[in-house]
Amino acid sequence: MAINLCNAQVSDLDDLLAVHNDAVRNLDALWTSQEQTLAQRTEWFEKQTAAGHPVVVARDKDDALAGYGSYGSFRDKSGYDLTVEHSVYVWPHAQGRGIGTALLVELIARARAAGIHTMIAGIDGRNAGSVRLHETLGFVEQGLLKEVGFKNGRWLDLRLLALRLNDCDPPQPA
Ligand SMILES: CC(C)(COP(=O)(O)OP(=O)(O)OC[C@H]1O[C@@H](n2cnc3c(N)ncnc32)[C@H](O)[C@@H]1OP(=O)(O)O)[C@@H](O)C(=O)NCCC(=O)NCCS
Repeated sequence: MAINLCNAQVSDLDDLLAVHNDAVRNLDALWTSQEQTLAQRTEWFEKQTAAGHPVVVARDKDDALAGYGSYGSFRDKSGYDLTVEHSVYVWPHAQGRGIGTALLVELIARARAAGIHTMIAGIDGRNAGSVRLHETLGFVEQGLLKEVGFKNGRWLDLRLLALRLNDCDPPQPA
């Protein structure tokens, strides 16, 4: 399938909001039932841009937005500066055509180029498709946290998968 990947623009925010809120409504991939407003998505996008973190959109042959991927800080302490956590979403009608793979390959390349050491995926324990996608690209499961979330009246387990991007030594104290 012809797929075009590029940096998200402000003009993509309506579509990004729609994909995000579809996931909030219908999936256990996002552990919230609170849909976002355009203002909230805009604020997220501006923070991503200011931090130099990517938001990559995938467009199909008709130029329609088919999905997106992004990464950001794993945890808000400087010791985690070389670790990122990412997410990838593909519209249901566009799934199974390699778009998720293309987005994740692009995020891995961007993170590697940015000198990131480790990428983390936090995946709902029942999301076998996402686990498979990540394992195919070299991610290794490093932890299963049982019942650390809930949605729609069910407990949710969190699988943590990680990909080491380089063999560099840790930054040394100044
Ligand atoms: C998970 C997701 C990103 C995969 O994107 P996609 O475009 O459908 O995936 P691809 O077509 O690139 O498939 C890549 C691999 O993922 C696996 N996979 C994807 N969906 C799958 C499913 N429903 N069941 C089993 N395996 C699946 C397969 O191993 C596939 O490789 P293969 O075709 O060689 O078997 C997409 O299904 C999605 O957005 N789901 C909802 C949101 C979500 O779960 N995001 C991830 C949060 S961590």
